[in-house]
Amino acid sequence: MSSDVRRVDPMADERAIPESDVDLRVELAGVHLDNPITTASGCFAAGQEIDRFFDVTELGAIVVKSITPEPREGLPTPRMAETPSGMLNAIGLQNPGIDAWLERDLPWLQSRQAKVVASIAGRTVDDYREVAHRLRRQGGIVALEVNLSCPNVEERGLVFACSAADSAQVIAAVASEADVPILAKLTSDVTDVVEVAEAVVEAGAHGLTLINTVLGMAIDPETGRPELWNTYGGLSGPAIRPIAVRNVHQVHAALPAVPILGCGGIRDVGDVVQFLRAGASAVSVGTSTFVDPFVGQQLVSDLRRWLTRRGIASVRELIGSVG
Ligand SMILES: Cc1cc2nc3c(=O)[nH]c(=O)nc-3n(C[C@H](O)[C@H](O)[C@H](O)COP(=O)(O)O)c2cc1C
Repeated sequence: MSSDVRRVDPMADERAIPESDVDLRVELAGVHLDNPITTASGCFAAGQEIDRFFDVTELGAIVVKSITPEPREGLPTPRMAETPSGMLNAIGLQNPGIDAWLERDLPWLQSRQAKVVASIAGRTVDDYREVAHRLRRQGGIVALEVNLSCPNVEERGLVFACSAADSAQVIAAVASEADVPILAKLTSDVTDVVEVAEAVVEAGAHGLTLINTVLGMAIDPETGRPELWNTYGGLSGPAIRPIAVRNVHQVHAALPAVPILGCGGIRDVGDVVQFLRAGASAVSVGTSTFVDPFVGQQLVSDLRRWLTRRGIASVRELIGSVG
C-alpha cells in the first residue's frame, strides 16, 4: 500500500487547487530542476535502459553510474543478495571508464537534452581529480556527484567517506578542476555525519547527497558462506530509509544553507515528502527502479497530485518543513 493512501489527510480535497497551479521546480546547489525526482547512481546506468519505458527527461535530472578513470569489470559474483525490504550489493564500480563514457553515454544523454549529474569515483585522490578534469566543458553536465564510498588504496583501503580529512582532500581536488557545482555523496557509516559534511563543504562542495548504501553482510545458514563474493556489501532499499531520513535531518539542522539530495529507500510519494520535509531539496531513487522501472515517472505525477490535493502551490514549501 502506498503511504499516500496510508497517511491521507481527510481534509485534503477541500484545499485542492488546479494541478496546473502546482510548481514542482526546485534548485539544488544552483542547478534548476523541473522537478525534485532524480535517479540514484548505479541503479539506472546512463539512462538508455530506462528510456525504453519512459522519456528520461521527465525526471529532474539523471545521476549516472559512477565513472572511474579506467574501465572496471567489477567484482566476481555473487554480487547481489536479497534482504528483508532491501538488497545487498557488491558490484565493485563496474563501468566503462571515462573515455568510453564520454564517447558513448554522454552523447546519448546530450541528444536527449537530459540534465546529467556525473558521478565520479576513484581509488586515489588523483583518480577523482582526473575524472573531474576530463568532465570539464562537457555540455549537458549540470553537476558532479562525488562518490566518496570507495576504498582509498593510499590509506589501507579505508573508505574515503569514513574520514572527514580524506573526504575533504578528494573534494578539494575535484573543486580545483570542476566547472559545475559539486555534490559530495556521504555515508552514514560514521559516528558523526555532520563532521564529514562540514569538512567537505569547507573543502568546496556546493551540496551533499545523503546517503550511499549502508555496509552489511548476509550468511547462507546452510553453507556457512557469505552470500556475497566480497563478504560485505552495501544495503539499499526501504530497509535503510529511516537511516537516510535521519542523516538528512541531522545535516540540514546543522547546515541549513547547504542543499541536500536525499537518497535511500524511496518507493512512494510519502517517502519523497519525508525527505523533503527533513531538509532535502531533491531526491534520488535507486533500488525501487529494479522493482518498478516506471517508479521515477510515477513519483513525479504522484508528487504533483499530492500537492494539488493539499493546496500546496510549490513543492519548495515542503523543504525542511518537519514539525
Ligand atoms: C546495484 C547498485 C549499484 C550502485 N552503484 C552506485 C554507484 O556506482 N555510485 C554511487 O554513488 N552509488 C551507487 N549505489 C548507491 C545508490 O546510488 C544509493 O545511494 C543507495 O542504493 C540508496 O538508495 P536506494 O535505497 O534508493 O537504492 C548503488 C546501489 C545499488 C543498489
